[in-house]
Amino acid sequence: MCGITGFTGMHPAAPVLLNGLSRLEYRGYDSAGIAVLNGNAIHIEKVSGRIAKLYEKTEGGKTVPGTIGIGHTRWATHGAPTDFNAHPHLSNDGRFAVVHNGIIENYLALREELIAEDYIFHSETDTEVIVHLLEKYYTGDIKAAVMKTASRLEGSYALGILCTDAPDTLFAVREASPLILGIGVGEQYFSSDVTALISLTKNVIYLEDGEIACLTPDHVTVYDCTGKEITKPISRVTWNVEAAEKGGYEHFMLKEIMEQPAAVKAALTSRIQGEKIRLDDFELPAEILRSFHKIIITACGSAYYAGCSGRYAIEKLCHLPVEVELASELRYADPLVDTHTLVLVISQSGETADSIAALKECRARGATIIGIVNVVGSTIANLADYTLYTRAGPEIAVATTKGFTTQLAVLYLIALSFAEKLRSISPEVYSSLLWELKQVPKYIQQSIDMNYQLPTLSRRYSSRSLFFIGRNTDYAVALEGALKMKEISYLHAESYAAGELKHGTIALIENGQPVIAVCCNEALADKTLSNVVEVKARGAKVLALAFHGNSRIISQADDVIFIPRISTIFSPILAVVPLQLLAYYAAKAHNCDIDKPKNLAKSVTVE
Ligand code: M6R
Repeated sequence: MCGITGFTGMHPAAPVLLNGLSRLEYRGYDSAGIAVLNGNAIHIEKVSGRIAKLYEKTEGGKTVPGTIGIGHTRWATHGAPTDFNAHPHLSNDGRFAVVHNGIIENYLALREELIAEDYIFHSETDTEVIVHLLEKYYTGDIKAAVMKTASRLEGSYALGILCTDAPDTLFAVREASPLILGIGVGEQYFSSDVTALISLTKNVIYLEDGEIACLTPDHVTVYDCTGKEITKPISRVTWNVEAAEKGGYEHFMLKEIMEQPAAVKAALTSRIQGEKIRLDDFELPAEILRSFHKIIITACGSAYYAGCSGRYAIEKLCHLPVEVELASELRYADPLVDTHTLVLVISQSGETADSIAALKECRARGATIIGIVNVVGSTIANLADYTLYTRAGPEIAVATTKGFTTQLAVLYLIALSFAEKLRSISPEVYSSLLWELKQVPKYIQQSIDMNYQLPTLSRRYSSRSLFFIGRNTDYAVALEGALKMKEISYLHAESYAAGELKHGTIALIENGQPVIAVCCNEALADKTLSNVVEVKARGAKVLALAFHGNSRIISQADDVIFIPRISTIFSPILAVVPLQLLAYYAAKAHNCDIDKPKNLAKSVTVE
């Protein structure tokens, strides 16, 4: 989704803005632009398409002089991805320039009002109303004009504002869209994303809804929505620059797949102390856990599939009913949630609009909320009653990999720790599962190392649409495997609960149909094996995924991928890894833009 960046300092702004925009690229965009203030004129350059074009057009920023500016990557919502619709937008009098991430829901009414007052619009965007409102309300006090403008806007917005009357001051406003200030020495920055700041500074301020910031090269001042100056804590980012770079890998996705043993270790290690699990800052005592009648897990996309896997672990170990709900559905479902409901909201970015809305809906009904989030200081992390960070480090590829497996690791910790407190499993079972969980990083590494034949297999199995099948925990893995395949290789891939094939979808099986069969759930592997036999009898070619040593599968499937043997509830965290690689190599074979698949955004901050 859109990303914004801003710089004020003593040296040229444009190269810093372009670099910042490059680091926001992964969020997804289809046009980009910068505005730089030089003397008393704002110079704007924008292009549809890639940031490389903007680099070229501005000769790396040289043709846009000035030491203060704002930049934007746009993911089109209102109006096509054209140069006209790209941000920044300029006021009719040339005094204000604005970049915006979010959606202005009442823009049509505002647009009509402004057109009636003779403001001229140059784009189809919702954003352009903002810059005309600033002009309308400006009477010499920029902050007052910003506050008045913000009070007219409904929806979500992170705004960066330049004004010719404040030659060294940037203005930034946040309402339901991420915005982070970077605190430098003799220069200051803002960005939608910490990854765009870490090469510049590790000291950041997370703005909250309704807050307004004024940044000059030497100073940052933050105001609340009433205009009162407030003191904000400066946080230190622990991610380093290398973590947000490719480090020799061809794609971020491959790097992030390979980082999974370390990322999962980071998610687990400090929370396991000897034989005890310590869930960071919060411990829910057994009496409180017993007060929950059910758990709802809510999320979108892969995070939802992590929830589908996590559900099996929590139900099995804690004997508590768990519902897994798509956040986009839950938010409008009038859900049966009350003070006896514990809600787990899972989100890598912590900024997914539907997940935030579902969280708020459940909160309003009295639920206790635990956020399982990767990005520190993100909206979901701030809104939740308790937050467990997944500690995956920056995830740049749009297709999540280490984000997903670290979510699983945290869900397993929750399941085990709650089960121990509720005494729903014996101390022996607890100890043995905890021991296995500690081995997971090593086993993930083995799942990668064992499957060196995946580049070849991916060519064999990605020639047409694919079926992914499995039962129970394997079905959850199949769902994620199919999503990975379709989002980066653009091949049609569907997952089916294996037992459902006979109820309709087996009609689609014909000669040569690739079927990926996940058979890691030992109790159900034979059942899935029967489905393998059925689809093979109708001409399918089958790639099975099974525990190392499962010789029965070798005789039935055409090809087999193995993973180390582990308890069924933990098997998804290993089984998904070869499927990520399968999708990666399929996308590579089809020459796809692996890290930035078409039409997708990393952080889905609009509904
Ligand atoms: O940031 P979130 O975890 O809330 O994002 C949720 C989904 O948008 C995300 O998992 C998406 O499905 C990924 N592209 C999957 O790889």
